Amino acid sequence: MPGSFDPVTLGHLDVVRRAAEMFDEVVVAVATNVAKRPLLPAAERVALVAAAVAGLPRVRAAEAPGLLVDFCREVGATAIVKGLRSGGDYDAELPMAWMNRHLGVETVFLPADPAVAHIASSLVKDVARHGGPIDDLVPPGAAAVVRARLAQEGT
Ligand code: PNS
Repeated sequence: MPGSFDPVTLGHLDVVRRAAEMFDEVVVAVATNVAKRPLLPAAERVALVAAAVAGLPRVRAAEAPGLLVDFCREVGATAIVKGLRSGGDYDAELPMAWMNRHLGVETVFLPADPAVAHIASSLVKDVARHGGPIDDLVPPGAAAVVRARLAQEGT
């Protein structure tokens, strides 16, 4: 399950949990989206994902700095899993799924649970940037890390 995870959210974790019921193993891969400039360094994003999935059997976090399908081959992943909240997500994900299929790896889409479909990493950062509460949107510990980075960004 690849993503920017800047930061990992409860929406991501819902998809991770459901994917773990469908696959032998889930690798949550912190990858590079060239279209985004992340707030958190990759190592911090991986650490937050690792802490969030620590209690989940057969789930682990990893950094996937290059081409996603190369990482899939490295870890023996048979499919890419992505959550979809909306038609907008679908429009963004479909070309990537087509390209990754062309490159040899299929994608499985899971519809977001409506209970967490309002959560997007970009909105979490925006709420936090404006001093709003994000503790119930991200796993324990992540909100403090986001706030610390935002404070650093503002200095
Ligand atoms: O959480 P995001 O930002 O929607 O995730 C997008 C991501 C990181 C999965 C995507 O940009 C990606 O796969 N990057 C790795 C480089 C790659 O394989 N690019 C070709 C994608 S078709």
